[in-house]
Amino acid sequence: MSHNSTILGIESSCDDTAAAVIHNGVILSNLMATQDVHRKYGGVVPELASRAHQSNIIPVIDEALKIANMSLQNIDAIAVTQGPGLMGSLIVGLNTAKGLSIAINKPLIGVNHLQAHVAALFIDHQIEFPMLCLLVSGGHTQLIMVESFHQMNIVGNTIDDAVGEAFDKGAKLMNLGYPGGPIISKLAENGNPNTYSFPDSQTQNLDFSFSGIKTSLLYFLRKQIENNTLFLEQEISSVCASYQKCLIDMLCKRLTKGIKQFNPKSIGLVGGVSANQPLRAEFAKIALKYNIPSYIPKFEYCTDNAAMIAIAGSFLHQSGSHLKISDLPYTRS
Ligand code: KG4
Ligand code: ZN
Repeated sequence: MSHNSTILGIESSCDDTAAAVIHNGVILSNLMATQDVHRKYGGVVPELASRAHQSNIIPVIDEALKIANMSLQNIDAIAVTQGPGLMGSLIVGLNTAKGLSIAINKPLIGVNHLQAHVAALFIDHQIEFPMLCLLVSGGHTQLIMVESFHQMNIVGNTIDDAVGEAFDKGAKLMNLGYPGGPIISKLAENGNPNTYSFPDSQTQNLDFSFSGIKTSLLYFLRKQIENNTLFLEQEISSVCASYQKCLIDMLCKRLTKGIKQFNPKSIGLVGGVSANQPLRAEFAKIALKYNIPSYIPKFEYCTDNAAMIAIAGSFLHQSGSHLKISDLPYTRS
């Protein structure tokens, strides 16, 4: 991928403030300020997120430019997450980008956060299309048929929670902390994944559902408390390993069904949950079984980041897709 442009990417849809610079298809810097204020609440508090974005955003952009050895004058366009996400968080990123775009008189590009997660794959890979991409994040779980950057069709979607939410809420139920995905997968390393079983929900076609498994974990934990079954650390690890395995099985079942239905040339795995090692391993097994190329972004491009916004921005810039100053953020995909 070598678009002849230098783009500043800005991401602020949830609780990470991020900025990156891409130059002719190469990521020169990719910076992120994570917000620790949410940890004690066990989830993102929107008002606190927007306040933290407001204080982080200029220093993060400055640093991203500095590392890339660029000044604002070298930037051809500014790409920013327009949605979906938290309104207060998106407004900080979008308005900062608008201000910069007016200041340097360069175009403003609105990026769809989900399309950017998929575009993260284009940073380091030459993709064979059509690709069936499994997008797994804290807010979304989708199967997407990707014909090109500009043509992506959602062919499967969650009807309730996202898989990342199932990890986060599961960890909250077990009092393990936030964000739950990395914590559960760390504990799971010492557990036996075949100890407990949590049921999959029946869904139509390629759709997903994760509210049932979360409730069954809740009932399971309640029963342990009622029965006064003391949880040793080893047992918690096995609960985590079993819960994680069931979530991964639910994802892989739909992915496999999608491969059979659409016969894609390749498969992709993107979004924050794609940082999960056992999921990456199962995904690789599926690719091997069906003998198709498979792509996963580098770890730093899996969870929310601005490099993916910058690369998506370079595609949109090339096709002349720019925002007006009156354009607003959107909270739903
Ligand atoms: O893509 P992302 O950074 O933000 C959204 O767009 O939502 O995804 C965040 C989600 C969280 O739910 C987090 O628990 C999950 O990704 N996550 C993981 C892992 N690392 C992050 N889930 C499972 N295993 C991991 N290693
Ligand atoms: Zn995301």
